[in-house]
Amino acid sequence: MLKKPFVAANWKMHKNPQEATEFFNDFLSKISIEQMENFAFFPPTIDLSVTSEKLKKTRIYWGAQNIYTETQGAFTGETSAEVVKSLGANMCLVGHSERRSLFGEDDDQVSKKVNLIQQLDMTPMICIGESLVQRKSGKTFDVVEVQLIKALKDLDSKKEFIIAYEPVWAIGTGQVATPEMAEEVHLFIREKLSGLFGKAITEKTLILYGGSVKPENAAELYKQKNIDGFLVGGASLKVDAFLQIYRALF
Ligand code: PGA
Repeated sequence: MLKKPFVAANWKMHKNPQEATEFFNDFLSKISIEQMENFAFFPPTIDLSVTSEKLKKTRIYWGAQNIYTETQGAFTGETSAEVVKSLGANMCLVGHSERRSLFGEDDDQVSKKVNLIQQLDMTPMICIGESLVQRKSGKTFDVVEVQLIKALKDLDSKKEFIIAYEPVWAIGTGQVATPEMAEEVHLFIREKLSGLFGKAITEKTLILYGGSVKPENAAELYKQKNIDGFLVGGASLKVDAFLQIYRALF
């Protein structure tokens, strides 16, 4: 089972295979074997082969930023979870807000993807979070609850899964949620999970925060009881900044 503290890198559409290789060479020279299981990487699909070469034999978690709901067929431009798994991946990101808002991914697709990732014995990291309009109109908890329940509709709760709470207004904007704002939603998610799957499962499920996490704000956020780590975009692209976030958790 995973242990906290946990930091995951979402590289989005950044880095070519050469740059990814250089990143991993540097990163691996700076962490110990024991620390490896505290990290996850989600590189662009085109970098998954070099990621496999570098990380397959380590205890680091890694996988795709998105997979398709089918494993094979006439689906031009999509990525098969089965192929990602065949490279040695053990975790995939699902339902990132950019997938939802820019590419029209809905809760039904998110739920199918969660299910497929689990069937292939990989761990889904499921992203949920409200937009600015939703927060301003007092709908944060309703939105988060609906996304959570729908994403976990067919979950196998005996298998590992991770929730990443990422308020959309905080992603890539430099506008981080205050520790209190984040904690209140994390606590809400923890309670909902408890209602759905019981206390034992909930206690060992990581709930990560994402949205403008940086070395400067990580420690304060992590002090909150229900924040188990981070999903980091921009600040995960440089080895030193990413490691500073990790080190801020101790
Ligand atoms: P950010 O992205 O850290 O650049 O805000 C986080 C994410 O989208 O996962």
